[in-house]
Amino acid sequence: MKRILALVLSLVMVFSLAACSSGGDTETTAAPETTAAAEETTAAAEETTAAADETEAAEGTEAAGGDTSAAQGMNVGVCIYKFDDNFMTLYRQELQSYLESEYGATVTIVDGKNDQNEQTNQVQNFITQGVDVLILNLVQASSTEVVANMCKEAGIPAVFINREPDEAEIQRWVDEGIAATYVGADARQSGTFQGEIILETENKGDFNGDGVVSYAMIMGDPENIDAQYRTEYSIKALEDGGMQVEKLFEQRGDWDQTKGQELAANALTQYGEDLEVIFCNNDAMANGAKVAIEAAGRVVGEDIYLVGVDALDETVGYVAEGTVTGTVLNDHVGQSHTAADVAAQMVSGQTVETKYTVDYVKVTQETAAEMAAE
Ligand code: GAL
Repeated sequence: MKRILALVLSLVMVFSLAACSSGGDTETTAAPETTAAAEETTAAAEETTAAADETEAAEGTEAAGGDTSAAQGMNVGVCIYKFDDNFMTLYRQELQSYLESEYGATVTIVDGKNDQNEQTNQVQNFITQGVDVLILNLVQASSTEVVANMCKEAGIPAVFINREPDEAEIQRWVDEGIAATYVGADARQSGTFQGEIILETENKGDFNGDGVVSYAMIMGDPENIDAQYRTEYSIKALEDGGMQVEKLFEQRGDWDQTKGQELAANALTQYGEDLEVIFCNNDAMANGAKVAIEAAGRVVGEDIYLVGVDALDETVGYVAEGTVTGTVLNDHVGQSHTAADVAAQMVSGQTVETKYTVDYVKVTQETAAEMAAE
């Protein structure tokens, strides 16, 4: 079962990569890449079951490049928007260990402390040091143009991660021949999955039977497209599923657990029994909201629903026991491995796609129990 799931996930990833290939303008070897990836994916899926499903799924991206032996021992500079972020902590740890084990890389990771000026200085320092490639989780996606130009001037390839630049900027890389790429996930999918999780409950999010889902939205940093799309598409999925909705509350919690708890507590105090669903743009905030829900004497699954995104271990445990309704796996393993592989391909002088996306996976009580048991 696990193997089948891994294979399905892997193939989904291969197809999304293939879709990106055909959409890009700069591509060279899309078809052979896809074939090679499919072969390797099958092999990966048939291997032992020791690795987690998402790790096996990530194998599909490994084969996407040609010979990367020139990247062995490469010097990689990594900028993270801030270290104090649950999901990006998992991401950077996985990125470092994979770069070291797969490519014998020297990896330096710096903390942008959520300050774009500080981070831009850090990029400049890496350029001065002459790193071979930069992997960049910018504080502000709107600074991508400035940073991409700095890298271009210095002749250093740039792999942007996690915070998706706008389409016009990605097109500019193509038009101006800038060696840059983006590796992430399509946040619309994660929002849609959140909405679907609510639709799949027995009352579709409508506890009081008035025909309307009355909800609170606890957002991440609204500058970030992940926050924008999750907010929009979770509700769109409910509406597409035939439900009427009423937004009672929407505030930014900046991806932070403490803020998530405070905001959920405020929403619960303000709206009481009328509040039927709390959507959180990520799991850290959902973990906070869970505490607030319990403190307010409400019971998830009985009189309120709660969903997040990321599939942090702690949250998957809550989903398994039913104290959080569901979450969505944000595959930090697949994303970090793809970012590392693409960085190695660029260091080896290969032309790469302008965008790579890794699929999200819905996590409900049924699948969470399986994940938690592993
Ligand atoms: C999102 C993730 C959040 C947060 C954010 C940072 O993809 O779901 O938890 O880490 O990235 O940009």
